[in-house]
Amino acid sequence: MNIGVITIFPEMFESILKSGIVAKAINNNLVSITFSNPRDFAEDNRKTIDEKVFGGGPGMLMMAPPLEKSLKFLKKKLGDDSLVVYVSPQGKKFNNVLSKKVVNNNKIILICGRYEGIDERFIETFVDEEWSIGDYVLTGGELASMVIIDSVTRFIPGALGDKCSVEEDSFENGLLDYPHYTKPRVYNGKAVPDILLNGNHEKILDWRQKQSLGRTWLRRPELLENLALTDKQEKLLSE
Ligand code: ADE
Repeated sequence: MNIGVITIFPEMFESILKSGIVAKAINNNLVSITFSNPRDFAEDNRKTIDEKVFGGGPGMLMMAPPLEKSLKFLKKKLGDDSLVVYVSPQGKKFNNVLSKKVVNNNKIILICGRYEGIDERFIETFVDEEWSIGDYVLTGGELASMVIIDSVTRFIPGALGDKCSVEEDSFENGLLDYPHYTKPRVYNGKAVPDILLNGNHEKILDWRQKQSLGRTWLRRPELLENLALTDKQEKLLSE
């Protein structure tokens, strides 16, 4: 999987490059991340990449020409068929479905805006999709891109190792995850549910499904609206 990132702050990505699952996936050659800094393609000696907004208003906007050169640099490395995504609060809400689409596509270029954003003409000309990680405004696209990279990496076969699997996570079957427990058996006066200790795997699976269904119904009922429950799930719900 090849990921390109256009950013004026590549050093912000050090956290995910140096520790955790993403770092491991990079070391195991499962994912490669290439950065391009629009400042390296600025057209003046002061390395200007932003300008005042036409029509007035606060803040500065990233100019199209340095972004275009940055993108061309990355497309040369990753290929012209890379999915070009601008991360912004105006985008489509990012979710697991989009995350898996990225893994299937194998190549993605993430564009991180700063200041008031980027020139609309660059978006119209070069951007395939615009994605948001939630209804709040960050000071730039870097954190959003890191969220996307982290989420995408989990779906790369082999990235999570044998011990964990994406299949059992929240949203994988359209439901929230069930609760998990480890040692000690009693903590703060609360005991681990008996059913998890009796070794009956069928009963444990049923209990977990029921917990997932219950949590989803209580916390995110809208997720159940378009979900076709299995006969088994319907039965568990009615018990
Ligand atoms: N850039 C700033 N805010 C953002 C958000 N919520 N999602 C994606 N990119 C952003």
